[in-house]
Amino acid sequence: MTQPLPAQGQPWDAVRARMTDMAGGDVKWRDGKAAVYVFNAGEDLDRVQKEAYALFASENGLGPAAFPSLARMEQEVLGFGLGLLHAPEGAAGAMTSGGTDSILMAVKAARDFARKERGLTGQLNIVLPRSAHPAFDKACLVMEIEIRRTPLKAFLADPEAMEAAVDEATIMIVGSAPCFPFGLIDPIEALGALAERRGLWLHVDACVGGYIAPFVRMNGGDVPPFDFEVPGVSSMSADLHKYGYCAKGASTVFFRSEALRKHMIFTVSDWPAGKMTTPTLAGTRPGGAIAAAWAVMNYLGVEGYRQRHGMVTRAREQIEAGVRERGFQVIGAPQLGITAFTHPDVDGLAILGQLYQRGWVTSAVTEPRGLHLMLSPVHLSVADQYLADLDWATEAARSGGGTGGAAVGYGR
Ligand SMILES: Cc1ncc(COP(=O)(O)O)c(C=O)c1O
Repeated sequence: MTQPLPAQGQPWDAVRARMTDMAGGDVKWRDGKAAVYVFNAGEDLDRVQKEAYALFASENGLGPAAFPSLARMEQEVLGFGLGLLHAPEGAAGAMTSGGTDSILMAVKAARDFARKERGLTGQLNIVLPRSAHPAFDKACLVMEIEIRRTPLKAFLADPEAMEAAVDEATIMIVGSAPCFPFGLIDPIEALGALAERRGLWLHVDACVGGYIAPFVRMNGGDVPPFDFEVPGVSSMSADLHKYGYCAKGASTVFFRSEALRKHMIFTVSDWPAGKMTTPTLAGTRPGGAIAAAWAVMNYLGVEGYRQRHGMVTRAREQIEAGVRERGFQVIGAPQLGITAFTHPDVDGLAILGQLYQRGWVTSAVTEPRGLHLMLSPVHLSVADQYLADLDWATEAARSGGGTGGAAVGYGR
């Protein structure tokens, strides 16, 4: 549908007022009503993100020679990530626009590595647990790689099932830390052992966990080895714009060595404007996203992250205790910021629909049918309100309320 561009420009005040007005119908995430899409770590962080973003909103990460400031900030952000994830000397990475982008780049690197270093030709495949994120399906669709999803065991990747699906054309196996559906960390050590035994590239998708798990562990949480400390891990994705609390459009992808990372890089010289090299899928890269990530990480530091992630842990524990008291079952033993739970008698998706009527925008799981929360620090202050509304929603669903227009799954 076409939309005519206004013939005359309008004053910024009027334009801004219209935007504020449009946002009036959005989920009240500032009040803690969203447990998906937005990570709300407080007004101060919101301000740091936005001011830092605005400072570099015009600058372009495509040109490190023109913007040594951004090049330095990106290198420092990558250095923070590599350090947190136990990367060995010589490990390297890149900032990308998000988790999907990071995963796509890791798959591309693994594919090119397989072709160039292992001499593989023909149809290639990757093997991943059923709970891995659809970003892998997207990457495989784009690159015409076969995707082999294997059944879960107790909601976790099953290394045996994965090994059975591997063959000589497998270019990557995947584990999540944690997976999106249940918030559970796959057995990365066992997958690492499989990768080493069979000479496979193991990617750990820590898009959700990469910037929370290290701090939960520092806070005393029992987080199993999931990163480069596991020798078989070749690459990792870790999103800054999730539990790194950075502005959107920021993720990291890491490789155990430069020898692996070089397969991500794209260079073309055969066109009339000279050599063009880009590390990631994007050409132009928003300076604001790089600057905001650098600013947030420096603003929070280790203590700041420990404190905000401690709030997430307490919110999760409070909500899990509350839902258990109400007869729900928490799926597995989540350790980070995602939790999912089911009710033995009442359909989780019907409850979700009722909660939506009270302004809660959260997600669902479908195998089994239940409720899903991706929690932020703000949720510590609304946990009781959520539980009270959950009581109401469960009763409404029990007495026949349907899904009430709530979207199942996420995205469009
Ligand atoms: C485990 C996991 N991997 C990858 C992604 C994709 O990240 P993005 O939405 O930033 O592309 C998500 C998004 O929620 C995720 O939960």
